[in-house]
Amino acid sequence: MSAVRVHNLSISLDGFATGDGQALDAPFGHAGERLHEWMFATRFWHEMGGGGDGAAGADHVFAARHGQGIGAEIMGAGKFGPPGWQDDPAWQGWWGDTPPFRTPVFVLTHRPRPSIEMGGGTTYHFLDAPPAEALERAREAAGGLDVRVGGGPTVVRDFLAEGLVDHLHVVQVPILLGRGVRLWDGLEALEKTYTIEAVSTPSGVTHLTFTRV
Ligand SMILES: NC(=O)c1ccc[n+]([C@@H]2O[C@H](COP(=O)([O-])OP(=O)(O)OC[C@H]3O[C@@H](n4cnc5c(N)ncnc54)[C@H](OP(=O)(O)O)[C@@H]3O)[C@@H](O)[C@H]2O)c1
Repeated sequence: MSAVRVHNLSISLDGFATGDGQALDAPFGHAGERLHEWMFATRFWHEMGGGGDGAAGADHVFAARHGQGIGAEIMGAGKFGPPGWQDDPAWQGWWGDTPPFRTPVFVLTHRPRPSIEMGGGTTYHFLDAPPAEALERAREAAGGLDVRVGGGPTVVRDFLAEGLVDHLHVVQVPILLGRGVRLWDGLEALEKTYTIEAVSTPSGVTHLTFTRV
């Protein structure tokens, strides 16, 4: 069966994957861009349409696994837009007319709306469904490829809690946010069901991979 994977989920040393006060002009709240500076410096980011030339080192190699073999993404309402986006019928996500996903994307929300077909192969489907059911839908759409759980932390935590994630790649960034949304809450002893490996890179981040035993 296809695998369920999480990639490039960046957290602070105190475990926050986003800051406090998410808003239209602050997608990561008070964290700003600090959780992803390591990624902005990679060739992966450059190839995704970001700026600069991008370095092709170890951070790039980890980051680029994001899209390899992925046939669908599941994301939470908090990743798709700022608080209250459901009140704006014109909101189509942060990523413009040609989003980088290039697959079906299932947005979990308690206020679903009709699907939106975007450029480049991305279609947004809106689902009000428990994680296992959402995964079943995403698997059907992924055509035998893997399903990525794209975040944010609430949705990743829910999928981890239900034992649905086969491979988790977390990037621990050496900053302390103090507040925001934590990844790990309620996941006591998660390590017992995964093989965990850690690789530190010259940028100062630590890549942690959790592969289901
Ligand atoms: N650090 C990283 O690498 C990374 C990666 C991705 C995103 N982010 C950031 O993370 C933040 C978003 O994360 P978050 O934890 O606040 O929110 P989230 O995980 O994106 O979404 C949670 C929301 O999704 C909806 N939802 C979740 N499960 C559902 C279900 N089973 N059925 C129906 N609706 C469901 C609910 O919203 P409603 O009740 O409102 O519908 C819930 O409040 C953003 O700031 C984003 O930029 C960070």
